[in-house]
Amino acid sequence: MTVESPQNFFWDDVVKQAQLENKQAENQPFFSMAPMEAVTDTVFRRVIAQAGGPDVYYTEFTNASSMVHPQAKFSVQGRLAVAENEKQPVAQIWGSRPEEIAGAAKVLATMGYQAVDINMGCPDTTVIKNGAGSDLIRHQELAKEIISAAKKSGLAVSVKTRLGFYQAEEFREWLPIILRQQVAVLTIHLRSRKEMSKAPAHEEYIDEILAMRDAIAPQTLIQINGDIKTRQSGMQLVKNHPGIDGIMIGRGIFENPYAFEVKPKQHTLEESIALLKLQLDLFDDVNANIAPKHFEALKRYFKIYLRGFAHASALRQLLMETHATEEVRDILDRELAKVYAKVAADEHIYRDNGVASADVAAANQLKLARETKKYN
Ligand SMILES: Cc1cc2nc3c(=O)[nH]c(=O)nc-3n(C[C@H](O)[C@H](O)[C@H](O)COP(=O)(O)O)c2cc1C
Repeated sequence: MTVESPQNFFWDDVVKQAQLENKQAENQPFFSMAPMEAVTDTVFRRVIAQAGGPDVYYTEFTNASSMVHPQAKFSVQGRLAVAENEKQPVAQIWGSRPEEIAGAAKVLATMGYQAVDINMGCPDTTVIKNGAGSDLIRHQELAKEIISAAKKSGLAVSVKTRLGFYQAEEFREWLPIILRQQVAVLTIHLRSRKEMSKAPAHEEYIDEILAMRDAIAPQTLIQINGDIKTRQSGMQLVKNHPGIDGIMIGRGIFENPYAFEVKPKQHTLEESIALLKLQLDLFDDVNANIAPKHFEALKRYFKIYLRGFAHASALRQLLMETHATEEVRDILDRELAKVYAKVAADEHIYRDNGVASADVAAANQLKLARETKKYN
């Protein structure tokens, strides 16, 4: 499927590149890494690119009001930074005032962004109190105004939403409204706001959604999101539901930084340590040259790279006590030789892409549930 409007060259390219790189002309979806607040900044996007990244990235969501009124209460700092050597991401914004959305999209255009995504799915109460995120599912006229305001920027406009606010079945009324606005991409997290991330994603509605798109807006790309952990499970979903254009993966990346890898392979401990070290280096660089960053925020990433091998949790615990990147590097230098010696027998291979060991999965389930409560 191609996107016809001139403003949508960005997505045309994403689709074509995904097909070229995988040497497949048809039924090859594009893959994206989901926008994740306090996670998908320029640092993490570049680390994931190193691990075999997706076709397209999103920024963390950024408040439109704060972009046009610098004194406003939500921080913009560093969220929209893009490094010269990374793929141009889609900027995700949230807000409820069309004039602010228009202003923010204009700012994005001047920053070099080509595509803007509007958050219409966030379940967080602060965002809902501001009339934004999933609250727009209950205020559909406003949602339409917001989309047309964003379009004034000339950027490719997409929407990320949920099936409904209270009930998943609201999608039958809600999604046609968005489709009629002729957005470039419609990303659907297959749950209602009320379901947060507790209920299983409603895959049973995918075919009905695709039929709606074919009938109302054949040029709009449909991207499916929710509980898809790896590229391979995304490919399986597309096989089961032909017509899906894109697959978005969020939390899967916390379990496996190689989730987007085209040909899954085993990875050594050294490879994952190299990703962690890259994260530290890029963090220092952004902190010094682009925008101040909080060291504490780095700690959530340690478990992505350090898991599934003997002593992983002991090493993580040591790192949780640190206060600066130099301390992290010192501990790695000191402790890793011991760890490598212990895992030498299995050639340091500790991760089968896509396969998380049962104990790690169980330990992480608890942590993830806590972390995602706010967003899902
Ligand atoms: C830590 C975290 C932060 C998130 N921040 C955002 C965000 O800024 N914008 C957004 O649209 N969704 C956000 N989400 C939701 C994800 O983009 C995604 O829709 C959700 O996690 C379901 O996909 P998954 O099962 O692949 O993780 C966030 C999710 C998590 C776990």
